[in-house]
Amino acid sequence: MKVARLARMAAMARNKLLCSSHLASMHISTPTSRQISMKTEGLTARLNSAGLLRTQGLIGGKWTDAYDGKTIQVLNPATGEVVADVPCMGGKETNDAISSAHDAFYSWSNLTCTERSKHLRTWYNLLISHKEELGQLITLEQGKPLKEAIGEVNYGASFIEFFAEEAKRVYGDIIPATLGDRRLLVLKQPVGVVGAITPWNFPLAMITRKVGPALACGCTVVIKPSELTPLTALAAAELALQAGIPPGVLNVVMGNAPDIGNALLASSQVRKITFTGSTAVGKKLMEGAAGTVKRVSLELGGNAPCIIFDDADLDVAVKGSLAAKFRNSGQTCVCANRLIVQEGIYDKFAEAFSKAVQNLQVGDGFSEGVVQGPLINESAVQKVESFVQDAISKGAKVLLGGKRHSLGMTFYEPTVIGDVKSEMILSREEVFGPVAPLMRFKTEEEAISIANNTNAGLAAYIFTNNIQRSWRVTEALEYGLVGVNEGLISTEVAPFGGVKQSGIGREGSKYGMDEYLELKYVCLGDMNRK
Ligand code: SIN
Repeated sequence: MKVARLARMAAMARNKLLCSSHLASMHISTPTSRQISMKTEGLTARLNSAGLLRTQGLIGGKWTDAYDGKTIQVLNPATGEVVADVPCMGGKETNDAISSAHDAFYSWSNLTCTERSKHLRTWYNLLISHKEELGQLITLEQGKPLKEAIGEVNYGASFIEFFAEEAKRVYGDIIPATLGDRRLLVLKQPVGVVGAITPWNFPLAMITRKVGPALACGCTVVIKPSELTPLTALAAAELALQAGIPPGVLNVVMGNAPDIGNALLASSQVRKITFTGSTAVGKKLMEGAAGTVKRVSLELGGNAPCIIFDDADLDVAVKGSLAAKFRNSGQTCVCANRLIVQEGIYDKFAEAFSKAVQNLQVGDGFSEGVVQGPLINESAVQKVESFVQDAISKGAKVLLGGKRHSLGMTFYEPTVIGDVKSEMILSREEVFGPVAPLMRFKTEEEAISIANNTNAGLAAYIFTNNIQRSWRVTEALEYGLVGVNEGLISTEVAPFGGVKQSGIGREGSKYGMDEYLELKYVCLGDMNRK
């Protein structure tokens, strides 16, 4: 038991090292036959027979190993078992993927909008018809409960469907001319080759939210999924090939994150970087993109306030903040990070909320009834622990949980901490785990000031039955997304993105297309000649 635990810890620590975007050393395996763990053998066999267990990168339409044959392991975060080995690629493979994307750009961008739309629609249909298998793959490598994972497939696929439709609506403009012999036009054209760097918390949806609009606009893409969750990306790429999306339009490389990132940044053929992940890495990418003056879209960390006013409906507030906090075990950028509760409702809310949290069933995402899976790895649990310890040492009170779950090292108890203050790390940084810190406030002004007292500005939530207040507070919040009496607000039809250090640009919705389009102004002169 002890030995297995140690082996699991070692494997996780290796993976943590590997996947750090500041990667200094790599855990690499020699190119032996691919290891599939015994316990997950049945599942992986099913995925394999559906053709969805791809364990090579995709370059120019060809499934490819790392050129030096090195591999990295993908682990199941619920058990620590090795699910598969995937190639540990670097700069060389990335440069080839960029060349393939560059070669494919001319013909892809010259297809008619209807043709591109049809390809995307076919891809969407395939994603939906394989939602069970894709969901299983997400649970296997990311850990979220199967029902939530299948929900992510629906959510992820919705971006492909939406942008299949938007492909037909890339309208230009005609501008009234200031001189009689001229006609002024604006054309919208694809940016070019896009480097898309995506995170582990939504292994599918964060890819489709970027690739959908990119492909719809006529761009081609090199995707670098997280090394923790590459299998879903590879399965989605397999379905893109099956959908007839031509070779080179969509490429996938994974492995040595800094090498891949540097190759994407250095290439003048890559005209845009789109990234979802930490603010620290986002800043580095922004800096790196300056060398070739690339466009960047960044969807970075949050520190979402969830303000519950005295006049809120208690049931609505509990249900909404529970959803906003505990989605994906607290591992989303829009998860409520601070529950800021007015003093008149604080005690009632704390009691009702803690009761609801106590009912959340924790376990392996494949087990029936489980709604809280493991955290992604050991270091994520250590981070949660250290935030909670800091709060306790500064006077906060544990109302529920507050420690590792008895199930093992990647599981943490759904936790509620009362009397959290602004000097505690829990209120200043994104915990990215199942911990709900409660803070007290007296006045509306104080709530707004606490909420805005952060460099982050992604999502915010408010619960109130006062319509004037809801409008007033929404306007005062320095955030890109606001949920009023609702804790789950993400959808393909609305713009997603942050202000301040939470990012640049918007994803999803009609606005998501603008990120992949250049404007070209055309002036037609001598137009009065007969
Ligand atoms: C994220 O956590 O980055 C994405 C969450 C969402 O799309 O709702």
